[in-house]
Amino acid sequence: MTELTLTTKNVARIQADAVVVAVGRRGEETVLVPGADLPSSTVKTLTSLLPALGVSGKADEVLRVAAGKDLAADVVVLTGVGPVGEGGADLEALRRAAGAAVRSLAGTADVALALPAATAEQVGAVAEGALLGAYSFDRYRTTRTAPVARLELVSDVARSKEAKAAHARAVVVAGAVAGVRDLVNASPADLYPQSFAEEATAGAKGTKVKVTVLDEKELAAGGFGGLVGVGMGSARPPRLVKVTYSPARAKAHVGLVGKGITFDSGGLSIKPAKGMETMKMDMAGAATVLHTVLAAAALELPVRVTGWLALAENMPSSTAQRPSDVITIRGGKTVEVLNTDAEGRLVMADALVAAGEENPDLLIDIATLTGAQMVALGSQVGAVMGTDDVREEVVAAAGAAGEQFWPMPLPAELADSMKSQVADIANMGDRFGGMLVAGLFLKEFVGDTPWAHLDIAGPAFNEGSPRGYTPEGGTGMGVRTLLTVLEKAAIR
Ligand code: BES
Ligand code: MN
Ligand code: ZN
Repeated sequence: MTELTLTTKNVARIQADAVVVAVGRRGEETVLVPGADLPSSTVKTLTSLLPALGVSGKADEVLRVAAGKDLAADVVVLTGVGPVGEGGADLEALRRAAGAAVRSLAGTADVALALPAATAEQVGAVAEGALLGAYSFDRYRTTRTAPVARLELVSDVARSKEAKAAHARAVVVAGAVAGVRDLVNASPADLYPQSFAEEATAGAKGTKVKVTVLDEKELAAGGFGGLVGVGMGSARPPRLVKVTYSPARAKAHVGLVGKGITFDSGGLSIKPAKGMETMKMDMAGAATVLHTVLAAAALELPVRVTGWLALAENMPSSTAQRPSDVITIRGGKTVEVLNTDAEGRLVMADALVAAGEENPDLLIDIATLTGAQMVALGSQVGAVMGTDDVREEVVAAAGAAGEQFWPMPLPAELADSMKSQVADIANMGDRFGGMLVAGLFLKEFVGDTPWAHLDIAGPAFNEGSPRGYTPEGGTGMGVRTLLTVLEKAAIR
């Protein structure tokens, strides 16, 4: 794990392997965006070199140059923050620039960050971005390049209470995101409902978080027909994990529900081979919920949070559920399973009902629910549906956290397409607006609780190249938004 410290040291005298400096665009010009007090000679030399170096200052542009005689460090790493306005670079641009630089420095021991960090907010953003960028997943590698070992973040306000709090929060956030990435990246041979439940139990050990696990027998006895139905095709049975953080004097009670399909083959409605390649990530929602609750506890937020991890493996076999099977969700509603690949909504329905039984003030679910989410919003923007005010709250929290979530409607008329010939509802409807249909299905199991549904099918997993602080594979997208929602609930 990369270690990060705040310092007020003179950056010129830090004996680091590299000093990270921001460059940005002001109008048509490429400019240095100095943070810590770089020697004016260094600023001058670097500034005059920018055109010849071909540095444009755009996001994700990272370049190493010799540090020159006025710095104790060996190299300067120029990292692009993109357009800088009057107020300097925005916080998310800082996170990404810090992340891209630190990512590119893997294999290096000591790095000083001389990025804009004049306020506690900026300190937090730089720390968060840098630590997120330092992530690497090496569980299955026999050779590896270690991430940067030590980061020193240079800031005039390093000693302030606010900067220290921002630093502490960044460490918790980055740890939570890394935890989600590790679970998402894990081989589905290793991560299945039982082992996931064990990870949750182990992760909560020594914290104020309580974990209870319902196994397949308890699920059957409790009427959790969605989890039982989806899980019965696999030799590895389903689990429902309840993760509770309940501080004294809690300001509100928030329920969080996560989709935890540890592998989605589609079941008997089997996916084509290509469509299955990334389906170990179909538990990203559950991983996000687990680590959000653990982070809320680590930050001692005055909010009661109950997380529900709906865990099952969706496999085809002689014991698998069939298209046209009718199942009964917890609470009694019946569902005709027309397509076994629309399994997420079945396990989510059970967990939403269970979560609603506790009457939380707010209920938020997060799921890699539909391919249609990616058709609508691409691979970096998540969707939010639900009760108007909760949906807007999530969108606002995402904006503050630096994640992209966009509001989507739940048009009542689309629900008609889920009419079943035999049961209360079918698990499929119109292909067009497939993300909204899935949202409308979940809505049937929510009741009156203020609720939002987050579909992160695209953003949960990066199939492309690394960018900013985002690695290949599991991204951990959603943790920062949910944690921000909890922080806001704490001050209501
Ligand atoms: N896990 C998938 C959704 C998904 C697809 C997530 C691609 C990430 C990337 C989900 O269980 C699924 O298969 N959904 C179906 C629903 C359909 C059968 C109604 C889909 O989107 O095709
Ligand atoms: Mn599926
Ligand atoms: Zn799925």
